Amino acid sequence: TIKERVFSGMQPTGSLHLGNYLGAMVQWIQMQETHECIYCVVDLHAITVWQEPKELRHAIRQVTAAYIASGLDPKKSILFNQSQVSAHAELAWIFNCVARLGWLNRMTQFKEKAGKDRENASVGLYAYPNLMAADILAYRATHVPVGEDQKQHLELARDIAQKFNNDFREQIVAAGHEDGVFFPQPEPVITGPATRVMSLRDGTKKMSKSEPSDMSRINLMDDTDKIADKIKRAKTDMEPAPPTDIEALKARPEIDNLVGIYAALAGISKEEGLKALQDTASEGPSIFTGLKRVLTEVAVEKLGPIRAEIVRLMDDPAEIDRVLADGSARARAIAVPILADVKDIVGL
Ligand code: ADP
Ligand code: NA
Repeated sequence: TIKERVFSGMQPTGSLHLGNYLGAMVQWIQMQETHECIYCVVDLHAITVWQEPKELRHAIRQVTAAYIASGLDPKKSILFNQSQVSAHAELAWIFNCVARLGWLNRMTQFKEKAGKDRENASVGLYAYPNLMAADILAYRATHVPVGEDQKQHLELARDIAQKFNNDFREQIVAAGHEDGVFFPQPEPVITGPATRVMSLRDGTKKMSKSEPSDMSRINLMDDTDKIADKIKRAKTDMEPAPPTDIEALKARPEIDNLVGIYAALAGISKEEGLKALQDTASEGPSIFTGLKRVLTEVAVEKLGPIRAEIVRLMDDPAEIDRVLADGSARARAIAVPILADVKDIVGL
């Protein structure tokens, strides 16, 4: 029988943003109370696109600080960075040999990230989902709390687990797993308060660290003025629907996004968020001015203390490095024996 275990991670490619927080982090924090949790700073994923070495080191520490500042407790959960546990890279290689080219060719994130100049994308960017499968399965994790954008990668991880179990069934059974299941099928847990937060500038794109315009996202490191400015300038359509027509408002993606963010931060339902929009619509000059005001208030209230705590923690980088070293040792203690079993099963 396989024990319930949680694994998830974020890339240290810049400051974490509201999408990371509402789509994944809030869920991670809750799961600490009910599950054995392993949370990783996925630095090997970060280098699939160019990272300035000095900034990368800083970002690894800052994401770790953001984890802790948001409420992840290194005593309750394992917090570490991927590159310190070589089992990830080793298992990823084995999975490179399990996964099929056709499977990776279907990954939409690669197409988005590689853009038009696909020939010039790194091989790592292409193989990224295999490494992600290794991250999860190196711990035989069963639950993976993520935002909606990771759904397809999770499906690939499930396919890899299944193909490995099938390909090596005989050896797996011989190794004492009578049901022939070595790797569990990891379940996506896509239940954060807002599982798909969109860009503030372009409602067709998700809020992301890799979006060039900083105005498109609210970072956990943004101060009160920045948060206010970004929300004020968030794109809202010029032609306002009458504020009483809830259905018309709901149908508009940029309104849906702002109301969704507001509701998620305020801990209320989307219906209640829409009601707040109606209640404040007469404040003017636009019908969104009032919503943007209350959204700014709640964003500053929620993110202000997190930012202050990140700044405080970043004052002592040695302490952050200690947390990562300790977490890595605990992660290795789980992953190394699993990798040894995998090698045995494969005949290595
Ligand atoms: P990014 O895409 O900004 O580089 P990551 O790839 O590091 O972020 O993703 C870290 C976690 O945050 C993942 O679980 C991902 O699904 C979640 N996430 C990222 N962007 C969003 C978003 N806009 N809305 C909801 N969840 C998101
Ligand atoms: Na992503």
